Amino acid sequence: MKHRRIIVTHYGGPDALQVVEEDRPEPKPGEVRVRVLAAGVSLPDLMMREGIHPETPSLPFTPGWDLVGVVDQLGKGVSGLEPGQVVAALPITGAYTEFGCLPQRELVPVPSGLDAAEAVSLVLNHITAYQMLHRSAKVRPGQHVLIHGAAGGVGSALLQLGRLAGLELYGTCSARGASAVSNLGAVPIDYEHQDFVKEIHRLTGEGADVVFDGIGGTHIWRSRKALCAGGKVVAYGLTGSLRGGRLASGRSGGRHRFRAIAIFGLYIAGGWLLPGRKRVVPYSIQWLKRLRPAWFRQDLITLFDLLQRQRIKPLVAQRFPLVEARQAQELLGRGGVTGKIVLVLNGA
Ligand SMILES: NC(=O)c1ccc[n+]([C@@H]2O[C@H](COP(=O)([O-])OP(=O)(O)OC[C@H]3O[C@@H](n4cnc5c(N)ncnc54)[C@H](OP(=O)(O)O)[C@@H]3O)[C@@H](O)[C@H]2O)c1
Repeated sequence: MKHRRIIVTHYGGPDALQVVEEDRPEPKPGEVRVRVLAAGVSLPDLMMREGIHPETPSLPFTPGWDLVGVVDQLGKGVSGLEPGQVVAALPITGAYTEFGCLPQRELVPVPSGLDAAEAVSLVLNHITAYQMLHRSAKVRPGQHVLIHGAAGGVGSALLQLGRLAGLELYGTCSARGASAVSNLGAVPIDYEHQDFVKEIHRLTGEGADVVFDGIGGTHIWRSRKALCAGGKVVAYGLTGSLRGGRLASGRSGGRHRFRAIAIFGLYIAGGWLLPGRKRVVPYSIQWLKRLRPAWFRQDLITLFDLLQRQRIKPLVAQRFPLVEARQAQELLGRGGVTGKIVLVLNGA
């Protein structure tokens, strides 16, 4: 039986994405074949396509960090899962596919009755937000917290979970995202027309207790200036390395897994060396999952429970069929997207 998946044929722009049709993969012992219902589209996918994300695989590869699907076939030795059961996973690559095989230990059961596109928004974005809030920053109710890129996928998840945690929220965004940011309970700061460092000091007096910075580079230093004494920047992304969805540097065409991360490390180390009781700490979902797989499973189950009890409502910006993965990435790269873009498959 045939199925379709997306491959990245070369490091570069959206034209690197091609649809291929081939035989469905067979699960090896210990693996489960999953019929994918929803796959997230996120900036890390674009960074891998450009070759600059630290996790970028060699070519050709199927992109896609996060998926929700149905158990389709069990490999030898798999027990405790039933065909037809809905599961979620964070494979980091490989989610843009109709069928995929994953080790059983990677799968987390999804409660019944959830919308697949909303559920998949939890698997990368909300879990990143949840772990940064509660495991990295260890936020406390009433703290002043600044979130950059607040209308985006991870940003809007930080706002929803930050509100549940009783935080005073401020969010940088372009004018296009301002109403979404205030609807999520935060004070919007227009990053294109306002100086966020001045603005946060004007709004809070002392500065922010915590800043979540997914922009990266020299921006981390400015985020540090927005802190009060004893505050913390959680640095987790490289949005600033892209412009219009392509490399901001203009260079392209190679696999440069360590370039961005080296610059990132430099700024984090610099943040520690500067005077003032202000810390910069890095966060990486993939590394925390490798080091603490039980936390990933536990936190995702907590988030599915919050979704089922309607305590959170992920913003799904737009749904695309798998074959329009290129258009989905182009839309995300153009910017101005509120929430998460999702590929929906197999009649989900
Ligand atoms: N460390 C981890 O474990 C981890 C996990 C997931 C994601 N990430 C990182 O998180 C970042 C966000 O990913 P995403 O998928 O949520 O992307 P996204 O949905 O595209 O959101 C990015 C947002 O940033 C805004 N933005 C762009 N430049 C900005 C600036 N200078 N100041 C403030 N906001 C700005 C954009 O607004 P406009 O489009 O309106 O300009 C957009 O709303 C990426 O760097 C990604 O690599 C890290």
